[in-house]
Amino acid sequence: MQLFIEKDYLAMSKKAAQIFADEIRKKPNLVLGLATGSTPMGTYEELIRMHKEEGLDFSQVVSFNLDEYYGLTPDNPQSYNYFMFENLFNKINIKRENIHIPDGTVKDVENYCKEYDIQIEKFGGIDIQLLGIGVNGHIGFNEPADELVVGTHLTDLTEDTIKANSRFFESIDQVPTKAITMGLGSIMKAKKILLLANGKNKAPIIAKLIKGGVVTTQNPASFLLIHPDSTIIIDEEAASEL
Ligand code: F6R
Repeated sequence: MQLFIEKDYLAMSKKAAQIFADEIRKKPNLVLGLATGSTPMGTYEELIRMHKEEGLDFSQVVSFNLDEYYGLTPDNPQSYNYFMFENLFNKINIKRENIHIPDGTVKDVENYCKEYDIQIEKFGGIDIQLLGIGVNGHIGFNEPADELVVGTHLTDLTEDTIKANSRFFESIDQVPTKAITMGLGSIMKAKKILLLANGKNKAPIIAKLIKGGVVTTQNPASFLLIHPDSTIIIDEEAASEL
């Protein structure tokens, strides 16, 4: 595991975007694993700038998103589908047919999730996976638990996560209680993983992860410690308890 501490959010975002851009230039049909939330927004802005100003080409890139709230339609402004089109896909030249985001409206969830993992494999697996981290250590929506699920699956969100994500909704009762998420196995199979964290509220979990030096299902992000090619990029605030 490699650790980079950057001065602030902007520097963290630029560093992450640069890693993505370098990989896309090396392999134009790169398979990206993408995340939503506040953390990657700066990275996406920088990738959009690189597309517009430096001709970074996404025409052969394939993407798989980590997760989606269960019960939200893709046109719901709070859905992760909506987020991705607003914050990235509508502003770069990725092909619609190369974009994969879990559908929060499917009825046969079990088969749908199996098929999502099969699709990832069909494209040769994820080359580089972008992750944020929850204040409780979740990655995707793999919440701390006694056991973690390997493949893509439907999961219950914890109180912590519902509370943290309520900032995007009018009230806490509107936050969905379930989500479809790639599993720990689907994430760990990525050839390269990039986890980003910024801000003081992420300092305790980052300290626990890095100083702890243990792998535990109670801190799903800790599995990055045993991934052969994982990089953690954080800003100085998130590093303040190291
Ligand atoms: C989002 C996701 C989540 C977030 C995490 C951090 O697709 O999978 O694990 O990365 O909840 O969220 P932010 O970035 O909003 O602090």
